[in-house]
Amino acid sequence: MKIMRKTVLLCTAIVLVIVSCKHHVPYPDISETPIRSFNCSTDTVYYQNEIAPLLSSNCAMSGCHDSHDSRAGIDVSSYVSLMNSNIIKRGKGSRSSLYKVLHASGDNLMPPSPYSPLSSDQQALIKKWIDQGAINNQCMSCDTTIFNFKDAILPIVESSCKGCHNAGSPDGEYYDYGTFSIDTAGVWSSISSNSMPKNNPLSDCQKIIIKKWMQAGAPNN
Ligand code: HEC
Repeated sequence: MKIMRKTVLLCTAIVLVIVSCKHHVPYPDISETPIRSFNCSTDTVYYQNEIAPLLSSNCAMSGCHDSHDSRAGIDVSSYVSLMNSNIIKRGKGSRSSLYKVLHASGDNLMPPSPYSPLSSDQQALIKKWIDQGAINNQCMSCDTTIFNFKDAILPIVESSCKGCHNAGSPDGEYYDYGTFSIDTAGVWSSISSNSMPKNNPLSDCQKIIIKKWMQAGAPNN
């Protein structure tokens, strides 16, 4: 009888362990509040720093996947709406439709023509972020001592402006040195007033970097 009771207890314990393992949530909850870390790790992809600007400028244009239009039920304008759009399998980048559509063929390709497709580096970044759990993370360090065009300005332009202001955009083209340096005063007034990038202002640090580059004469360096 005693052995029997022990066996029952043991079995219950094993079952409990299995059940609790199954229900273990490996990733942080879906929340609009980012998990912040002070130091940026080069191995980690950060939603707030890298993914949000990319999605906002390439997918959340008005008439597309913004909160107003949310075409096909997909709204990538905030972390929570993105995660609720059913296009991400956390931890499985290559099985997530958010990643698959970026290199799909024909009408399934996103962003659709006449918008430009994301570069392979940008696609890889999105895949890596999903592989790492699609977490709402943010790293705070930003180096304002680096403000040359190639290393500091161009990455901001590519991730935060080019999606809307690509070649042929009626609202101005910003994608390389030539296009971005034409009207620095206009660009500065739009980013310092937070009217650009539309819906997703640059961080203070990014503004300082751009300001410093402009004050240095906006060189092609
Ligand atoms: C989500 C789309 C989108 C993104 C991203 C975006 N813009 Fe714009 N931009 C527009 C549209 C649309 C207009 C036309 C005017 C309007 O609707 O406000 C515009 C107009 C402008 C203008 C004209 C003046 C003004 O404020 O109306 C400037 C300058 C500008 N953008 C700069 C930028 C810069 C610099 C970035 C990146 C740091 C950027 N934009 C990112 C959509 C965007």
